[in-house]
Amino acid sequence: MKLFLDTANKELIKQWIPTGVIDGVTTNPSLLALESGNIKSILLDICNMVNGDVSIEVVEKTPEGVYQQAKEISSLAKNVVVKIPFAQEYLPVISKLTKENIKINVTLIFSLTQALLVSKLGVKYISPFIGRWDDIDVNGMNLIEDLVIMKQNYGFKSEILAASIRNVIHLQDSILAGADVATIPPTLLDKVFKHPLTLQGIEKFDSDWKKLGKIKLFD
Ligand code: E4P
Repeated sequence: MKLFLDTANKELIKQWIPTGVIDGVTTNPSLLALESGNIKSILLDICNMVNGDVSIEVVEKTPEGVYQQAKEISSLAKNVVVKIPFAQEYLPVISKLTKENIKINVTLIFSLTQALLVSKLGVKYISPFIGRWDDIDVNGMNLIEDLVIMKQNYGFKSEILAASIRNVIHLQDSILAGADVATIPPTLLDKVFKHPLTLQGIEKFDSDWKKLGKIKLFD
């Protein structure tokens, strides 16, 4: 399973890359709006920092505009994936881009049938949003489970990228459901490392070791 960081913050990406567990990054316009500086240079820096796919979302609205911008985004770096929101008018564009071997991540997927349509087009990633379903009191995890079954039934190649992950339960359930990728906010990764029992355990080992009055493991 691949783990992506869901952020456009270079400092946070720089902080987590050395752990060796980050396989890519997803950005979106809302995440970019939190950053200051030149957007293009932020995105180029992120692409250079990360040894894996970096999703960059189009902001154009017309199909022609989306097509042109997708081409521009994809030319930024080898590891760029163009993120395009699900919409009927964009399907011909997505179809054309996949035929041109441009890697696409279709975002804002909220149903199995939406996912079926874009899987048929051979996109690289499909991003079902868990948290936003939960926001309106629907269990978003059901969608991930359904997508995994669809992929198994029909052998689609598109990777299921669990997105809008807000808590550790979302991440754990995505692992168990068999999502190909989970994109997680850095704050969540922080929580995984700061598990209270792990922290308590480290403290206990330290204090027991100190009771021996030793510093080195071996004399
Ligand atoms: C990632 O690709 C999505 O843009 C992101 O996970 C959305 O998360 P949110 O619903 O918490 O904004």
